[in-house]
Amino acid sequence: MKTKIFLPVIGVLFFAFILFTSFTDSFSDPVSRASAFKYVGVDKCAGTCHKGDTKGKQLEIWQDSKHSQAYKTLQTPEADKIAKDKGFTTAAAETPQCLKCHVLGKDIDPSEFDDSFDKTQGVQCETCHGPGSEYKKLSIMKDKELAKQNGLIIHTEKEAFCTTCHNSESPSFKSFNYEEAWAKIQHSKPKD
Ligand code: HEC
Ligand code: HEC
Ligand code: HEC
Repeated sequence: MKTKIFLPVIGVLFFAFILFTSFTDSFSDPVSRASAFKYVGVDKCAGTCHKGDTKGKQLEIWQDSKHSQAYKTLQTPEADKIAKDKGFTTAAAETPQCLKCHVLGKDIDPSEFDDSFDKTQGVQCETCHGPGSEYKKLSIMKDKELAKQNGLIIHTEKEAFCTTCHNSESPSFKSFNYEEAWAKIQHSKPKD
């Protein structure tokens, strides 16, 4: 008799526990918190800050890199052919499975874009450094810890990060040499 009541009670308690943990998780989970940050686009990052010799030419290096062309590449007949051969029925530049790596490195959700974000600029600063709406202010940006709390991403495992896109899921992938690739795009601040 006792166990007959006991079991359903345990069941209900367990269910309540699961509900409670998923509920509290939604507050602490950095991914859901991150959705408050918006992508503002490369022009906002370059603005008066990340360009020119004294700052380390981040804008210029990016402009000269293939990352700035990554969306335009999808607008070519060659890209459309790749998409078609893979069985997609949309043009490459409209195919989420292609846009994924050629713009944000993840699925595109238009609600994450500020009006100033222009996806035709391809793999941009924020693709790698996180959506900048909150950390772009100089007062925040100059304090690295504060900037990180506001969405800035600093990559310590650089190679592992690159290979989230530079991998065999890319239809044109042959190989990825991290040292050579980083040398082509590295854009550190000049040492004072
Ligand atoms: C969001 C996805 C993504 C990430 C992350 C990424 N890349 Fe790329 N990268 C691309 C795409 C897409 C292209 C091809 C662009 C094109 O040709 O239109 C590319 C091209 C390049 C090229 C030019 C290729 C060549 O053969 O010259 C270099 C160099 C490069 N990436 C370096 C890096 C490095 C280093 C990292 C890590 C610090 C990195 N990439 C991270 C998407 C990414
Ligand atoms: C393909 C990915 C990628 C793109 C695109 C990219 N960066 Fe970076 N960036 C990195 C990585 C990786 C580092 C080195 C580790 C770190 O600081 O995150 C770095 C370093 C930096 C640093 C140096 C930080 C320091 O303390 O020396 C600055 C500043 C910077 N990036 C700004 C920019 C700006 C501005 C743009 C756009 C014009 C940009 N980055 C585009 C990946 C990228
Ligand atoms: C996993 C990330 C990823 C996905 C998904 C992806 N690409 Fe790319 N794409 C890249 C990278 C990285 C490069 C740079 C060359 C390389 O190493 O693959 C690239 C290069 C290209 C190029 C230039 C080819 C060359 O030889 O320089 C074309 C065209 C292209 N992609 C089209 C597409 C199309 C079309 C789709 C969707 C069917 C797609 N990509 C999906 C990451 C990706």
